[in-house]
Amino acid sequence: MILGIESSCDDTGVAVLQGRRVLSNVTSVQFIHEKYGGVVPELAGRAHMEHISGVVQAAVQQAGITLEELDAIAFTQGPGLQVSLVVGTSFAKGLALALQKPLIAVHHMKAHILSHFIEDEGMQAPEFPYLCLTVSGGHTQLVVVHHPLSMEIIGKSIDDAAGEAFDKAAKMLGFPYPGGPYIDRYAMEGNPHAFTFAKPRIEGLDFSFSGLKTSILYFLKKQVDENPTFIDVHLNDLCASVQESITEILLDKLKKAQSITGIKHIALSGGVSVNRGLRNKIRQWAENEKGLNIYLTQPQYCTDNAAMIGIAGYFYFLAGDFAHQGVSADARLPW
Ligand code: KG4
Ligand code: ZN
Repeated sequence: MILGIESSCDDTGVAVLQGRRVLSNVTSVQFIHEKYGGVVPELAGRAHMEHISGVVQAAVQQAGITLEELDAIAFTQGPGLQVSLVVGTSFAKGLALALQKPLIAVHHMKAHILSHFIEDEGMQAPEFPYLCLTVSGGHTQLVVVHHPLSMEIIGKSIDDAAGEAFDKAAKMLGFPYPGGPYIDRYAMEGNPHAFTFAKPRIEGLDFSFSGLKTSILYFLKKQVDENPTFIDVHLNDLCASVQESITEILLDKLKKAQSITGIKHIALSGGVSVNRGLRNKIRQWAENEKGLNIYLTQPQYCTDNAAMIGIAGYFYFLAGDFAHQGVSADARLPW
C-alpha cells in the first residue's frame, strides 16, 4: 500500500495504490495562474502548502485506509518548480518519519512513463521493450523502456516542449493558460489543413517547436493587421491547423524512432497525450502499419497526477530502492 505525493508544478496530487490498483487519486487544481498566463512559482508553492495536508487526508479517507496501513511514502523529487517540489518533499519526509515508513523518491518524467502500469479499466500494461513518447508541459522525449527501472532517452526537444508549443499558440489565439485543452476542443470543429505553418528541419530524433511558434506568430500578426477579426472568424480552423502541425512533428519523429529501433510496442504519456488529434493520429498509424501495439492511458493518468507517483513508487519498492531522510527536492533532477 503506497501513498504517492505529486507537487512538481501547479497541482497538488495525492493517491493511494494497493499494488498496481488505484484506491484513490485526489488532485487539487490551482486556477490562480490562469489570469497570469502561466504558472507563478511563488503562488504555486503557497497553494501547495495550503492544500497538501487536506489532500493527503482526502486521499487516505477515499481509499478507506488509515495512515498506519501504508507500506511506503513516495513523492516527486524532481524535475519541476523548486518551490513546489519542496512542499511535497518536506511533507513526505515528515510523514515517513512520523509513521516510521520507508520513503521513495520518484523522478517525475519516469513516473509519466510508468503510468501505463496502473491497473484500470481499458488500460493494458505494455510489453518490454516499449517506445514511449512523453509529451508534457516541460518535456518532450522519446524513451526506450527496457524495464521499469531501466529507461533510455533517444530523442528530446532542443527548445520548447510540445505542451509549451500548444500553450504558447493558444495564448496567441487569446485562450487562458494552459491553452492546450482549448486548442483540442476548438480543433474538433475546424479544418486541420486550412493553414500551414513552418516545419522544423532537425536531423535525427530530436524535436524543435520554436520555428513553428515564430511561424504562427508572424502569420497571425500579418492576418490581424489586415483584418482585426481574423482570429475570431477562423478560430476553429486555426486551432485545428496548429494541432495538426504539432502532432505531425511528434508523429514524424515517433515513426522514425520506431523504424530505427524496430520496437513494436508504442506508448504515449504526459499531459499532451490527452490530445484527441494526437491519439487519433497514433491509432490511425497503428491501423495502417500492421503489428504495432499502441498503449494509451486514461486521461486522468496522462496529465500530472499522484497515481503515477504511486505506481513508480511500487516498482522502486519492489526493487528496495528507498530514499533517506537527507533527500532534498531537485528542480533539475538528473535522469
Ligand atoms: O504532463 P502535464 O500535466 O504537466 C507537466 O509535467 O508539464 O502536461 C501539461 C501540458 C500543458 O502544456 C497542457 O496544455 C497540455 O499538457 N495539455 C494538452 C491537453 N491537455 C493538457 N495539450 C493539448 N491537448 C490537450 N487536450
Ligand atoms: Zn508532468
